[in-house]
Amino acid sequence: MKTFIVGNWKLNFNVGEASVYLHKIQRKIANYRDVEVVVAPTALCLQPLSLQLDRSKIKLAAQNAFYRDFGAFTGEISFAELKGLVNYCIIGHSERRYIFHEDDKMIAKKVAAAIRNGIRPILCIGEIESERAFGETADVIKDQLFGGLSEVSVEDISKVLIAYEPVWAISSTKDAKIATPDEIAEVVGLIRENLKEIYGAKIAEEVPILFGGSVKPTNAGAYLTVPGVNGLLIGGASLILDEFVDIIETAKRVK
Ligand code: PGA
Repeated sequence: MKTFIVGNWKLNFNVGEASVYLHKIQRKIANYRDVEVVVAPTALCLQPLSLQLDRSKIKLAAQNAFYRDFGAFTGEISFAELKGLVNYCIIGHSERRYIFHEDDKMIAKKVAAAIRNGIRPILCIGEIESERAFGETADVIKDQLFGGLSEVSVEDISKVLIAYEPVWAISSTKDAKIATPDEIAEVVGLIRENLKEIYGAKIAEEVPILFGGSVKPTNAGAYLTVPGVNGLLIGGASLILDEFVDIIETAKRVK
């Protein structure tokens, strides 16, 4: 399986800044057969960046989209519009869940809409700090996984990527903590168990699972060697050229 390195730029970089930054990344990295590099700029940047994209090196992801293809939904963009423009879409990021109140039902519809439009969903799941403290991590993971995948058939599960992002480890969370490889290994094991329950043992092993939460060049190697982890979803460090490139190089080496 490939290693996935996904940079989530969130609401940073306007079109001009994103364009310059993408140009610099593309100059610094080679075409790595075993490492899939993906960046997720704001929706407004997707069209202009697609024109300068070297698809042999980098793929585009959207950060969000609405589940209906068209209609009276003021302010939304659809997966149908993103078709052909992006290969991936981040869905159910904790910022969407907690700031924009997206629930598992809406997230499930978005996952289905992405697949229907030929876009691979990166389904984000993860517990908040108090849930972990109360021993609820396994339940939260199961609920978010079963909820988010509720409309995904056995035929389509191969298109899905899962990102485990404990909310308490995301760098923008107040008093964020650094997840240990053991903590990650345990939850990734749970995710695979749950996938096995829904889709069977073989498929459960083939779904890429990414880790996200304060990933930096200093910990990327350790996280990528956690059993069952197939890539990283990176926020803050993906905005810093040298750090993002360093993480990509690490992924290549670890592979
Ligand atoms: P971080 O963000 O790497 O800045 O912690 C990760 C994410 O929110 O996807």
